[in-house]
Amino acid sequence: MKEKSQGFGSKIGFILAAAGSAIGLGNLWGFPYKAGMNGGAAFVLVYIVMVLIIGCVVMLAEMYIGQRSKRNVVDSFTQISKKFKWAGILAVIAPFVVTGYYIVIGGWSLKYAVSYLGGSGFVGTDSSAYFQNFISSPIEPIIFALLILVSSLFIVVGGVEKGIEKFSKIVMPLLFLCLLIIVVRSLTLGEGVKDALDFYILKFDFKALGLQGVLAAMGQAFFSLSLGMGTMIAYGSYSKKDMKLSSSVLIICGLDTIIAILAGFAIFPAVFAYGLSPTSGPGLLFVVLAEVFSKMTGGAVFGFIFFILVVFAAITSIISLLEVVSQTATEKKGWSRKKAILIAGSVVAVINIFVSLSQGAVPGINIMGFDLLTLFDEVVNIFIMPVMALMVCISVGWMLKTDDVIQTLRKNGDKFLWGKMFKFFVKYVTPLLIFIIFATGIVDKTKSYNDLDLNYYAVTIFAIFIFVFAISISIYMNKKENKQLNYDKDKIEEKENVEEK
Ligand code: TRP
Repeated sequence: MKEKSQGFGSKIGFILAAAGSAIGLGNLWGFPYKAGMNGGAAFVLVYIVMVLIIGCVVMLAEMYIGQRSKRNVVDSFTQISKKFKWAGILAVIAPFVVTGYYIVIGGWSLKYAVSYLGGSGFVGTDSSAYFQNFISSPIEPIIFALLILVSSLFIVVGGVEKGIEKFSKIVMPLLFLCLLIIVVRSLTLGEGVKDALDFYILKFDFKALGLQGVLAAMGQAFFSLSLGMGTMIAYGSYSKKDMKLSSSVLIICGLDTIIAILAGFAIFPAVFAYGLSPTSGPGLLFVVLAEVFSKMTGGAVFGFIFFILVVFAAITSIISLLEVVSQTATEKKGWSRKKAILIAGSVVAVINIFVSLSQGAVPGINIMGFDLLTLFDEVVNIFIMPVMALMVCISVGWMLKTDDVIQTLRKNGDKFLWGKMFKFFVKYVTPLLIFIIFATGIVDKTKSYNDLDLNYYAVTIFAIFIFVFAISISIYMNKKENKQLNYDKDKIEEKENVEEK
């Protein structure tokens, strides 16, 4: 049976679905805890720079690769070069790794939402013990994770327009509303606000950031924007030519960044107000914030709103990961969507069991001393995403003619005012930065941390130098080109007028 062709119905649907993929646990759980651990404001600043010079560029390149081929990731890469097929295959394997642990965290959030719904939340209990107890129990976390997985599978089976797009259109605005409620509540708690603002946006503590923090910011930007894993290639392949990729990318990156920053505004003032620590790491949401809710008046209601928000954000991201697999299997193997999703879902379910059990229920499950959740997260951040992103830059910057890429986008009605800038970045700056950070990341993991202090200054100065240099050149070239462009446009219009006659 031939499946009917898939695609997004409208530009707004496309943007919301891509934003839905981007906005997830990365924003609500990852960003605040990483900002908290890495110097607060300094991290936020570096993060924004990373989104601008790496995130937007790679996202546009990925979407273009997809739109160009209108096919799954494997074919998309193979069309660029037969030698790149492995990158496509890596992009199909990667979602299994991510979804395998992502649904575990999604499951924890669901558990929290359900318990707040049940009434008093965690009043009177020690939130840290509660969390440890829960994640290290054998059955319950698996069941919650599977509930998240199954709901996501149902949406993906519905198809791109009737499932993913429709769900995203309903959930995304709702999500924004819920987050605003929590932000307002947190900012009106009183005492903590000033300290929180100092910590989070006003006082830059670059020492606390360090090389570790810069690496974390880049990994976080990739993860949060759903890059380096074929997701945006798949979504790009479902976009119509008139969906103006360059402006869509700016909107999606903007929304994703705003939500991440808002998540910090929801969490830090409350954490400071109750005298808790913002630097506590991955437990920030489930231990520290949970404790805040247990002390706050109306905490159960706000706790429920917050964690249900996390659950929905997680689901819109999971469906994008599954879609990569589903698209590839239907197009390459001729499977029906149902079959592809059932099989992919089963594999993820099995992975999830091991990941869940590695959280303490079965002490033996770890690799090199890492529990599987941490391990998978590291593999994705340190290896898969940078490598894939490099391949994307090489594809669009060097294998395809970048001028043609820009021309094609413009012909489709996209003004693409940062065209020249894009060319310069995708060819030189972005891959170079990814490479430097990738290499230091690998060195950093294999060497002892102390040896790296020297390199850290060298790398920082080098990166700042490249950055300033790149920005000046590209702004200059962009200006020049826009002038040329207007000139060309006049000429083309003239020519068209002549031809029409
Ligand atoms: N971006 C999502 C988040 O922030 C997670 C995600 C979805 C993702 N698809 C991805 C991460 C592809 C990397 C690659 O939570």
